[in-house]
This record gives sequence, C-alpha cells and structure tokens, in this order.
Amino acid sequence: MELNITCIPGDGIGPEIVREAKKVLDKAAECYGHQIKYTDILMGGASIDVHGVPLTEEAIETAKAADAVLMGSIGGDTTTSPWYKLPPDLRPEAGLLAIRKALNLFANLRPAVLYEELAEACPLKPEISGKGFDLLIMRELTGGLYFGERRTVEENGVRKAVDTLTYDEKEIRRIAVKGFDIARKRRKKVTSVDKANVLDSSRLWRSVVEEVAKDYPEVALEHMLVDNCAMQLVKDPAQFDVILTENMFGDILSDEASMVTGSIGMLASASLNDTKFGLYEPSHGSAPDIAGKDIANPIATVLSAAMMLRYSFDLDKEADAIEAAVKEVLKEGYRTGDIMSAGCEQVSCSRMGDLLAERIR
Ligand code: IPM
Ligand code: MG
Repeated sequence: MELNITCIPGDGIGPEIVREAKKVLDKAAECYGHQIKYTDILMGGASIDVHGVPLTEEAIETAKAADAVLMGSIGGDTTTSPWYKLPPDLRPEAGLLAIRKALNLFANLRPAVLYEELAEACPLKPEISGKGFDLLIMRELTGGLYFGERRTVEENGVRKAVDTLTYDEKEIRRIAVKGFDIARKRRKKVTSVDKANVLDSSRLWRSVVEEVAKDYPEVALEHMLVDNCAMQLVKDPAQFDVILTENMFGDILSDEASMVTGSIGMLASASLNDTKFGLYEPSHGSAPDIAGKDIANPIATVLSAAMMLRYSFDLDKEADAIEAAVKEVLKEGYRTGDIMSAGCEQVSCSRMGDLLAERIR
C-alpha cells in the first residue's frame, strides 16, 4: 500500500520525536511491504520564523492532499520566546487551532493508559493504581469556547473581555456518535461530562447525547458533572472507559488523565474528521527546555503513528506490531529519562527509536 503522510515536526522536541517515529514507521513499512511518501510542512513557531504566520494556506493544502498528518509538537516557552510577543492570532498555538478547523478535525481521541511496566510512575496510591486503568477521552475539538466569538473592550475606563461558548446539536451529535462507536469496540461504557447544573450548552449536550445513546443499547451511558469528573479521575480512574466531552473540559481533563498515568511521554492522540483522514500527535507539549538534547521520549509519537496506521489506513497488524515493540522495549528495561526508574537502563531519544525499530517484525 502507498501511504501519503504529511509531517509537522514543529517546535521544541517535535523534530526529534517525529524523526524517531518515522524510523519506526519505515521499519514497519519495510516488514509489511508498504511505501511511505512523507511531505514536511511548517507549523507553529517554525512557520512564524520563516513565513511570519503560524500556518500558511499552502501548508494547509499540502496536509489536505495527504492521507494523514503526523505531528510532533508546537510552541515555545511562553515567558521567554519572542513568538509570545506577537498578537494572539499569530502565535504558535493559533496554527494548531487553525489546522484543526481547516481539516474539520472535530473528534479528538486521547487514550490514558496505566502501563503495567510503569505503574511505579503513577502518582496515585497503590490501592488505586493497583487496579490499573485504560480510558479514552473523546474531546470535541472544533467548537465551544475555543472557537467562539471573543473580544476585549474598554467600557467607561474598565477593561472587559468576552469569550463565547456555543454548540449546536449537529456538532454535539457527530462527536457523540464517535464516542459511542468507539465505546462499542471497547468496554461499552460512555461517561458524558458536562456542567448541566449551570450551562445551557451543557443541557443541550446532555439531551443530544441521550438521543444518540438510543442507537447504542449495548453501551451504558452515565452523565457526570465536570468538577466531579476531575475528582473521580484521581479517586478511581478505573471506573472510566470512554469520557465524552466538549472542547475546554476535554482539554483540561485530558491533561489531568495523562498526569495520573505518570507517563505523559507515552500517550498518543488522534484528531479525526468524518472520513479516514486524521492528524496524529503526542498528548504532551514541545518541552523547549530539553529540545535538541536527544533525551526526549519518542514513544508517544511512535504510538501516535500506530494510531495513524490503525485509524487512517486500517493497517491493524502493523499497528499491533508497533505497540508490541513498545511493550517489549519496556519489558526489557529500556527507559528514557522521563520514565526512568531504578534497575532500568536509561537511553536517548534516538536510541529508543532504534530499539523500537529493531523490534518490529
Ligand atoms: C491541546 C493544547 C491545545 C488545546 C492548545 C495548544 C491550543 O493544549 O492540544 O490540548 O488547548 O487544544
Ligand atoms: Mg491541552
């Protein structure tokens, strides 16, 4: 099969981790008889430095022409980087929001899994982490507060800022369908998270989710308020299968869930539209403090590449092989610095890539 992939190395550790993910992908392609064509585009700070904007029209067109997009990370240190002296719509993050919107990537899948081999890294008490957990946050990604009208004004000498949170029922329905579809292939439980005790948008969310649930009688649905969910994620994460939620709640809860695993350097994500097309990126950020030192953990990006093979190309065997290689390398005791523990061997980013590629069969 011919795979046409657009890569966004991006900023910070992005270029290093994407390089290692390509190494692993190339090995999988070689073993299973595929051809991969990569085309790089600039986004975030890397694009600002060259074009003065965080994402160009040409870059969007290149991404649109591909089968899938593999991204590293974007952004820099918000207190020291000159990118953050620019107006908000010209900063690195605006590029990420723009590509999500331009490619209609409304469904963001963020799995948070406690790896047996890394259970020690979990910050929860052993009686909670001992149960293990494997949850997936299905976050709405192109609506709500992050895409609503916003403005800052001054009224009678008083500065005032307004952000608006809007959802229509179509936006809610299509993400709910994605959530139930994936729950059906997992442990068949959806926890829909909202703030229906306060917000109209949440009350609409809840009623549309209930309508969609009628088409999935085999999937159990529960509703949970977002503040309670934040609590439950540290109290008993094992209770969750699929957490279905709107943009901002998903942004916040997915960071919390990844921290609870203790190994954010391991977590992949996928942003999908209504077709097979998707953008795949690690759940972590650009870590500018360790950029260029060859010490970053490439596993989240490698696992994002596995998700890409699975969701955009239906290459399940190849995705399985990559995931198995990750488990094998961890079992053998190899660790990057972020997940290092006593008795293990610490390796660099590029060495981790080599070890993973060698284990693809
Ligand atoms: C994320 C990030 C982005 C978001 C930022 C960089 C705009 O935090 O992917 O979670 O909030 O969506
Ligand atoms: Mg975030």
